Amino acid sequence: MKYPDSFEIAGRKLSPPLVLSPMAGVTDSPFRRIAKKCGNVGLIVTEFISIEGLTRGNMRTHEMMRFKPEERPIAIQIFGYDEVRMRWAAEIAQEAGADFVDINCGCPARKVVHGGGGSNLLRDLPQLKKILTEVKRAITIPMTVKIRAGWDDKSINCIEVAKLIEDCGGSMVTLHGRTRVQAYQGFADWDLVAQIKKNVSIPVSGSGDILKPEDALRRFDETGCDAVHIGRGAIANPYIFRQTWETMNGIEPYKPAPKEMHELLLDFRDYLRDHMPEKGVIGRMKMLSAQFLRGVPNCAHIRTAVLRSSTVEEMEPHFIDYFEMAEIHGIDSNLQSARDENAELAECGV
Ligand SMILES: Cc1cc2nc3c(=O)[nH]c(=O)nc-3n(C[C@H](O)[C@H](O)[C@H](O)COP(=O)(O)O)c2cc1C
Repeated sequence: MKYPDSFEIAGRKLSPPLVLSPMAGVTDSPFRRIAKKCGNVGLIVTEFISIEGLTRGNMRTHEMMRFKPEERPIAIQIFGYDEVRMRWAAEIAQEAGADFVDINCGCPARKVVHGGGGSNLLRDLPQLKKILTEVKRAITIPMTVKIRAGWDDKSINCIEVAKLIEDCGGSMVTLHGRTRVQAYQGFADWDLVAQIKKNVSIPVSGSGDILKPEDALRRFDETGCDAVHIGRGAIANPYIFRQTWETMNGIEPYKPAPKEMHELLLDFRDYLRDHMPEKGVIGRMKMLSAQFLRGVPNCAHIRTAVLRSSTVEEMEPHFIDYFEMAEIHGIDSNLQSARDENAELAECGV
């Protein structure tokens, strides 16, 4: 099969059809920049940004919108309930220079849902319609929407929601094929991506459980989707976009040398230091290290030592140890893509 080498949102060509999925607490500017550096990310979506924070002038929320030119093309994702504030937040995102505004209709977190936003909108379609109509009216850049399958397994309504999105002028729909109640358990239902694709004429992207290049190829084959979003797979392996693109094109996927991966981790440290106070840097380095320092057998003790460090300087000798072991033993991509239950639960704390 010939895989698509690009997709289009409202006439704008994006290549390759591989999207860095929005992840709160993960896809901030430093992470987005290292993902871009590894290559072949066709579109980046920011972590979700609260319309309440934005429209009430919260400085930290406004800072979440900042991005570097090399992060383009970029969609800024917003979440909330009130259509007037959603419209206002979308205007702010447009003024911030976003290429696209993405509306979050999938977040399962209790706090978000209780505020009426995220996946709650899947069970309040009149309000979703108001939001989409208002946002579409207010901005000139394209509006995209990310949804889940439905609220629970008795109310799977993503096809109806996708049609509503199209009718309201949405330029792309992304489905993470789990329900709100499912949160991150089980597997994403990609058959629903195929069904949405058959029912709308706007581009459709699928999200869920792409951990290695072959997973993406299989999903393109099975669903005919226009693009795929990659989330957790990119934390353990930010080279996954490049490796997927190469696999799609029959090229042997790139294997970064341990030295290069070590440098990438240090670049991440520098980007973080540019972006936030040192206290935040330590937490973010630990988050990435827990996922990134995988794939070399018998190195769990090194990960533990990194996670116990109280400063970045304390972590650095452990990075050297890990990448020396990687030089000797190589990196096993199966181990790299495996996620244990605890790590998964920690990731899904949002
Ligand atoms: C830590 C974390 C944070 C997330 N934050 C967001 C978010 O802000 N907005 C959103 O639409 N989806 C969010 N998601 C969902 C992902 O974008 C993605 O749809 C989901 O994780 C399934 O894809 P994956 O298996 O490739 O990770 C988040 C997921 C994780 C693990």
